[in-house]
Amino acid sequence: MKDLRIGMIGYGFMGKAHSNAYQKVNRFFDLQTRPVLQALCARDQQIAQQFANNWGYASVESDWRALIERDDIDAVDICVPNHLHREIAVAAAEAGKWVLCEKPLSMNVAEAVEMTEAVEKAGVPNMVWFNYRRVPAIALAKQLVDEGRIGKPFHYRGTYLQDWTIAEDVPQGGATLWRLDAAAAGSGVTGDLLAHSIDTAMWLNGPITRVVADTETFVRERMHQDTGQVQPVEIDDACMFLARFQNGSMGTFESTRYARGRKNFNTFELNGHDGSCHFDLEDPQYLDFYEHTRKADGQKVEDHLTGWRRIHTTNFEHPYMDRWWVPGCTIGYEHTFINALADFLIGVEKGEAAQPDFRCALQTQMVCDAVLESARTCEWANVPGMTVKR
Ligand SMILES: NC(=O)c1ccc[n+]([C@@H]2O[C@H](COP(=O)([O-])OP(=O)(O)OC[C@H]3O[C@@H](n4cnc5c(N)ncnc54)[C@H](O)[C@@H]3O)[C@@H](O)[C@H]2O)c1
Repeated sequence: MKDLRIGMIGYGFMGKAHSNAYQKVNRFFDLQTRPVLQALCARDQQIAQQFANNWGYASVESDWRALIERDDIDAVDICVPNHLHREIAVAAAEAGKWVLCEKPLSMNVAEAVEMTEAVEKAGVPNMVWFNYRRVPAIALAKQLVDEGRIGKPFHYRGTYLQDWTIAEDVPQGGATLWRLDAAAAGSGVTGDLLAHSIDTAMWLNGPITRVVADTETFVRERMHQDTGQVQPVEIDDACMFLARFQNGSMGTFESTRYARGRKNFNTFELNGHDGSCHFDLEDPQYLDFYEHTRKADGQKVEDHLTGWRRIHTTNFEHPYMDRWWVPGCTIGYEHTFINALADFLIGVEKGEAAQPDFRCALQTQMVCDAVLESARTCEWANVPGMTVKR
């Protein structure tokens, strides 16, 4: 067993989700690597110490540069707002650290290229936390695609809807609300929510080659928490786009933070010649699957019992579930991070990088940038072609 000494930067939502994953991963997966919670970095020393005490970090730092300089840190985990990802990731890679970075990889493609080149030049293991791939039901959808059960794809439909920014008095900027501040987030729902949808879509259905998009900012001015001033809002509150996939299928994507009643409504449906599948993160244990034909005596035949099935993805046969509880017992949101971490560590141990790594996330960033460009120009935008492992 080899220790992997983690330097965690950020103690917010993702700081907790990842700390939990580091603590649990060896208890449920057979690994040769053991993450050690070596140091927690946050700007406020006192809050950092409280978090470190609660989660079992051995030490704290208040400057991420000091964390990266330490010889007793093997891997840096970036759980801070998007505008800080590039500088930290590049510095960490240059210092020879493994780099784990939250999504979206960066503010834009130029940053993502720089980050990807930095980790590849340094030859350090790297990953981006697109954790939804590790929801068993979504991983099962991937298995169905790979088994040929969906057949030639025609349509992909992705939505990612929330409702938490409808009130006009929600401020922008600063702690927790940096997502509304373009200077910290880069974009609105496109980078924050659609990046997830795009990663899942390209994992299941291959590269997106061109897009045409429309965006809207419903509340044009909000008070900024840092300055106290009412300032223009420069993020996209909502985004819709059409996409063409390399395999010839068509896609529609919709995201907003103005869909009353929708909290984390991350859904997709894929329709192919032989079947369809549908997933909804607000009901995450289930994958809906429709099979058009079934095999009888080697023949594909119509079946009068054909219909949608709801697959409760808690059997030992389902992805990841042989690591968790007995059939019928569910796992939750936090487990997707544990599953993702396990895949990453197993990949490094085997010398076969688990995806998505930085290069894979760069392709997702290219789609995000093309979406925003199209929304500006009101024209189709091409996504640069690139071959990546997904
Ligand atoms: N994979 C997912 O599903 C998912 C979910 C939520 C957020 N995210 C991503 O995770 C990242 C963090 O989001 P979050 O929700 O945890 O945000 P958050 O606001 O909850 O936490 C951000 C943390 O960064 C810290 N921070 C800010 N500037 C810093 C600096 N200069 N040095 C050190 N610490 C600093 C803040 O103090 C805070 O602890 C973002 O990139 C976000 O897009 C991913």
